[in-house]
Amino acid sequence: MSKTKELIVLPGDGIGPEVTKEAIKILQTVCKRHNKKLRIRSFPVGGASIDRYGRPLTEEALKACKESSAVLLGAVGGPKWDDQPKDKRPEAALLQLRKELDLFANLRPITTYKSLLQSSPLKREIVSGVDIMIVRELTGGIYFGRPRFIEQTENGERGVDTLSYTTEEIERVAHAAFKTAANRNRKIISVDKSNVLDSSRLWRKTVQESAKQWPEIELQHMLVDNCAMQLVRNPKQFDVILTGNMFGDILSDEASMITGSIGMLPSASLGEEFAMYEPVHGSAPDIAGQRAANPIAAIASVALMCRYSLDMPEAALEIEEAIKGTLEDGFRTADIYGHSTKEYRATTSEIGSAIDKHLSPNLKPGNLL
Ligand code: IPM
Ligand code: MG
Repeated sequence: MSKTKELIVLPGDGIGPEVTKEAIKILQTVCKRHNKKLRIRSFPVGGASIDRYGRPLTEEALKACKESSAVLLGAVGGPKWDDQPKDKRPEAALLQLRKELDLFANLRPITTYKSLLQSSPLKREIVSGVDIMIVRELTGGIYFGRPRFIEQTENGERGVDTLSYTTEEIERVAHAAFKTAANRNRKIISVDKSNVLDSSRLWRKTVQESAKQWPEIELQHMLVDNCAMQLVRNPKQFDVILTGNMFGDILSDEASMITGSIGMLPSASLGEEFAMYEPVHGSAPDIAGQRAANPIAAIASVALMCRYSLDMPEAALEIEEAIKGTLEDGFRTADIYGHSTKEYRATTSEIGSAIDKHLSPNLKPGNLL
């Protein structure tokens, strides 16, 4: 009998609780099927935590995350908390979690599904067959660089952020990207702005140096502005994209439209000790509570959790197949609805249940806990 794994769920704000509910439903199904014991504890985070405790992340929640095998996060933020000072904003919880858990490698797969090709604003022949893994550095760069401040000057205010990377920070995320590429098509494109930025020049030099340990992997470098263009011109040229924190933030939103919707994109944030899984999309306050949110990003995040934290790689594949099957059956939330007669407008929980049904037909009574 395997050891019980501890999962911490941080549902967060807006559509966060709705999508995590479906993701947990799926996780419980595969855990039963694979005879895996899971203990789940839930804590408010972001705006929900501000409302209840006056701050976006409590010590108790953070401590629980540090004792866990994995964290599942929904989404944080919303207009209600927009006027809070920066360290009291919901997003501060997310950044603190990433930093405190040292989750330096953020994996964002861009997977296309045949049945969704018409949902992408890009031409079918451009997006068909695209399969990219973005590896975004998550605990450094301009998101965390010091100094940062807004000051009064004689000519009004001045805002300052600092973009800094050390060799060590670049090396460890590069290593994660090379390891990822070794299990894929063995090609990395490292994205920087080394024609202008010193931090990028160090980035390029360090990645180049790291590549010597991975002779079987092909490494190319690309400037970030060119990469933004190439992602819509010919996304099939990419296998693994390795990049820094802010470039990765921007490029992953752009790349999400290849799949049809940001509501499809899962992510895994990995460090040496901890791991956190979250959909790439935000809290979408405009559709919260309307049963309209797409839970696929959250459910696919649980698949990544099975692969990277719960030692259930088969379960990961099963969930990914079930998502594919559900889309082939025509189930669609509003963000991926293409108005064809083969499609069916479904609520958040209908999508979750349809995915669950795809997983359940092979359920063997002997595998139940
Ligand atoms: C993301 C989000 C976050 C980020 C925000 C909510 C702080 O956009 O995960 O991509 O910028 O990293
Ligand atoms: Mg983002």
